[in-house]
Amino acid sequence: MNYRIAPSILSADFTRLGEEVRRVIDAGADLIHFDVMDNHYVPNLTFGPMICQALRPVSTVPIDVHLMVEPVDDMIRAFIEAGADIISFHPEASRHIDRSLQLIKNAGKQAGLVLNPATPVHVLEHVLDKLDMVLLMSVNPGFGGQSFIPHTLDKLRRVRSLLDHYQAQTGRRIVLEVDGGVKAGNIAEIAQAGADTFVAGSAIFGQSDYDAVIREMRQALVQAA
Ligand code: DX5
Ligand code: ZN
Repeated sequence: MNYRIAPSILSADFTRLGEEVRRVIDAGADLIHFDVMDNHYVPNLTFGPMICQALRPVSTVPIDVHLMVEPVDDMIRAFIEAGADIISFHPEASRHIDRSLQLIKNAGKQAGLVLNPATPVHVLEHVLDKLDMVLLMSVNPGFGGQSFIPHTLDKLRRVRSLLDHYQAQTGRRIVLEVDGGVKAGNIAEIAQAGADTFVAGSAIFGQSDYDAVIREMRQALVQAA
């Protein structure tokens, strides 16, 4: 299993974002997770496409843009222009989910849908062909540093079996990412429930040695396998 770690720069030091991105990539980050909040879909406000564009030349790994905005289509266009590699959004925030996914796919980018803790899995059913990634929220979106909601493990197992079934039929593998409260101490059981990509914000940027945290996470993943 090819596990990937996606540090969320939501918990980085904003006074030196470029340096933080470089440091966390040097420490072994596979993706840079970029949390976009609009104070409308979620009760918090972060950064937009201009910051993504500024970080694009700094990042040697794909930028994984998580849109917590409503509506989504204009921001999808803006982040395509800004050089995002993966763009995911919440189905509740789009009037026409299939159309929003097409916007991303037609630009040659990878597309993801994000399921909140209470969002049912069946929203995935008719759009699997357009998905490169499913992102399961293991906290309610809006803030870093919250605790992992244990029920996410059951949901992960359900989505894993849906995606495995789809892969058996089509040969196409869809990434299963988890976001919220992921730490070295719980990453193994999250992997065992079916996730392959792990967002971690406070667990990484809350420590001074990023290398040590990411190494600890990878060791836990090796033991989980
Ligand atoms: C929450 C964001 C997460 C957040 C995760 O709305 O989508 O990406 O940064 O932070 P931690 O890892 O601290 O829970
Ligand atoms: Zn996120």
